[in-house]
Amino acid sequence: MLLSTLAAITVLVASAAASTQVNVVGFTFDGSTLAGTINVQNVAYTKVIYVIYDTPAGGWPGSCSAHYSSGPASNGYETWTFSCPIDSKGITQFYVEYDVAGNKYYDNGCGVNCNYPVTKTPPPSLGPQADITSWFSSAFPAAVTKLKANIHAANTNAGVVIAAPQSNTINNYFYHWIRDSSLVMITINDLYISGSDSSAPSLFSDYQTFTYGIQRVPLLTGLGEPKIEVNGQDFTGSWCRPQNDGPALRASSFMRFANAYLAKTGDMSRVLDMYNGTKGVVVTDLNYVAQPANYQNAQGCDLWEERRGIYFWTLGAQRRALHEGAVFAASLGDTANSKAWAAAASAIDGMMDSFYFPNTNLVGRGNSDQGLDAAIPLGAIHNAMADGVLSPTDDRILNTVYVLANQFKTEYPINQGSLVDGSGLPLSYAIGRYIGDVYDGSEHTTNGGIANPWFLATLAYSELYYKTATAYLQAGKVTVSSLNLPFFSGARPAGLAVSGLTSGTTYDAGSTQFKNIVGSLQSLADSYARTVKTHAGAGYQLNEQFSRTSGMLTGVNDLTWSYASLISAGLARQNMMAVVNGGQPNNNITKRRRTARA
Ligand code: NOJ
Ligand code: NOJ
Repeated sequence: MLLSTLAAITVLVASAAASTQVNVVGFTFDGSTLAGTINVQNVAYTKVIYVIYDTPAGGWPGSCSAHYSSGPASNGYETWTFSCPIDSKGITQFYVEYDVAGNKYYDNGCGVNCNYPVTKTPPPSLGPQADITSWFSSAFPAAVTKLKANIHAANTNAGVVIAAPQSNTINNYFYHWIRDSSLVMITINDLYISGSDSSAPSLFSDYQTFTYGIQRVPLLTGLGEPKIEVNGQDFTGSWCRPQNDGPALRASSFMRFANAYLAKTGDMSRVLDMYNGTKGVVVTDLNYVAQPANYQNAQGCDLWEERRGIYFWTLGAQRRALHEGAVFAASLGDTANSKAWAAAASAIDGMMDSFYFPNTNLVGRGNSDQGLDAAIPLGAIHNAMADGVLSPTDDRILNTVYVLANQFKTEYPINQGSLVDGSGLPLSYAIGRYIGDVYDGSEHTTNGGIANPWFLATLAYSELYYKTATAYLQAGKVTVSSLNLPFFSGARPAGLAVSGLTSGTTYDAGSTQFKNIVGSLQSLADSYARTVKTHAGAGYQLNEQFSRTSGMLTGVNDLTWSYASLISAGLARQNMMAVVNGGQPNNNITKRRRTARA
């Protein structure tokens, strides 16, 4: 019986190309429950999936069913989960059988003649991790230095933020990209708010002068131009244009700096000058953003400069800028603009739910593009507002980023190894732009299909989970739902691996479940930072990408946005620690206040 069963498995695995149709993403065994997640190809609607396991006595006596969780995603795969009670006879190994359309497919984990060995999984360590506290204490100031080196670099005008240095040979990123530069200047202002850096007033002065100039250059598609030459002239080569996230992010950068500067100095004249003075920049950008043709533009390009349509990242940036603008204008007594921008913002509010697809329970990158994408965690961390819509505490976001992280397991060989660092501490999955990306970061992508993980995408997961943990701590409770339960209970490295949770229950700060969820979020966020720590170059160098096979730096070197992402993740961690220690974070989530009535 035993022999014939094993022989059957061997034959079927050898002939069924295990893992194409069914693939175990991860599992845990806490001594009483074998729990895990499976990727299942949607071969047909009706499916049955069994987890079949062995005991020390042998004979493969155990089986239990897996259950549908979500999907299919655009790659045709569904997520299934299992939670099998294991009695005192114990468990030694398991495999998975997938019955569909009259066929059986198997995943036994390691090819022919072996199965998934099961030993008791140590529970993940909870809370902020000491090695990551220590790493940020050196990597953070190094990133600040490297980021600033790309502001007004040699051979560029004052106010220019290059996307990456001129010395790059792999690709030419020696331009002032509006998106990248705005995110970098937002980071400069966040450093200023945090009190750890005082260069913002002078850097914003140059940046304002440069911006005022480029807003007046006759640009090919107007303010939606994605990138500008470092001497302030129009870039006229072919490119995906317009990219309408740019003016929105840029307006946000100036308004947030203006608010911080006013709070610190009381100097209203400079605030008015940024708004619409002799070198005013904010009104120009927001009047562009508020035009329906610019936020409902199906021809607009996404942040990766590849797809046209209405995208979550872009619309989120526009929504937040317009809400910020409505409040800012009202505070300066400009009722007319305040009303116009508030009206546009409210029109966008009504479009946000279109990114959520109830058929899959997932947030897509576009309102007619269900693809999962790092733009989703990026949008949730950069563009979230106090209303919480598609923010780091929105369960639709948490479910989506969890499913996406699991998809990256099969995307990159580096995610299929042992996933521990040199000290045996857990690594996360390395995250890239999206599944199936082929852009390897070089000028001419000749090797189709070799895109790699990105530092800024992996760090977006850290920042997201720091922010989720912070919000739960501030709320003093967390409610488990059918949408967040797969993530909360799912196996590491993608899930929180917290057991004993019940959907529909709210756990208060004093409960074990609350402590496990928040503690696991903190250590999971740190494991994403640890992956970046492990693959960063000497002296904390970050490129755009790191190799999908070796983890070595690849793509352009010293991408400014990579350093900005390390700094914003570090600041989110500092804010979380301030809350852990009973203080207040430097919370820069926009408050949605009512605008003044005329
Ligand atoms: C260059 C863009 O910057 C990048 O995002 C895109 O993936 C490639 N072009 C596509 O070729
Ligand atoms: C390519 C990326 O896809 C895009 O988002 C970025 O703006 C440019 N590189 C410049 O860094």
